[in-house]
Amino acid sequence: MALIAPSLLSADFLNLGQDVRNMEEAGAEILHVDVMDGHFVPNLTIGLPVVEVLRSSTDLLLDVHLMISNPDQMAEAFIDAGADYLSVHYEAANNLDRLLETIREKGAQPGVAFNPDTPVLVLKEVLKRCHHVVVMSVHPGFGGQNFIANSFQKVRKLRSLIDSQSLNIKIEIDGGMGPDNTEEAVRSGVDIVVTGSAIFHSSSSKESFQQMERLAEGAVVLKGNDAISV
Ligand code: DX5
Ligand code: ZN
Repeated sequence: MALIAPSLLSADFLNLGQDVRNMEEAGAEILHVDVMDGHFVPNLTIGLPVVEVLRSSTDLLLDVHLMISNPDQMAEAFIDAGADYLSVHYEAANNLDRLLETIREKGAQPGVAFNPDTPVLVLKEVLKRCHHVVVMSVHPGFGGQNFIANSFQKVRKLRSLIDSQSLNIKIEIDGGMGPDNTEEAVRSGVDIVVTGSAIFHSSSSKESFQQMERLAEGAVVLKGNDAISV
């Protein structure tokens, strides 16, 4: 079943603990944590200390998305801080193959994120090292942006590339996701829907989370020409 991963970038940082509790109570299994360095992307967000306090205060899976230059240098520190899933950008890694291997050896689930302008096919050789792939459906750097229209096409392409290698890899989509496009995401082959502003900027984060979860559950996955319920 597809998961909804609330992105804490849009949470209330002064009351982060309460927002995490709300997501636990709403039934979330995974939290998305955006790390930005003001270099790879033109924004600065949170770093190691916040990942550490999140780790000590929740058992939810921490899905850490590194939007930083030279992730090769910082990956281990984020795993030590408590990341369960660790995604590094295709565009930023110096030695992607080795980095993904290191992440796995250090005990986290390795993932590659790739930008809207990066073609799916560049991932062909590294897929076998991935636990998940993050399709960026906005240009990374900020929450609350509009979904980029061809992103589901990329998801479908990625799903067939994964299937052609008989691999079992989760597809995550990140950016501009909300109740309007959750079903289509799941039907396109998405396993994890990241969503920030649609949840935390709504009148009830719990209800918005549960609404998206219901939409994901009700969606239908298209496999070849057959449509099957999930
Ligand atoms: C953007 C981040 C996203 C962001 C999504 O660079 O990677 O995770 O929080 O926010 P929304 O859901 O508001 O587009
Ligand atoms: Zn993200």
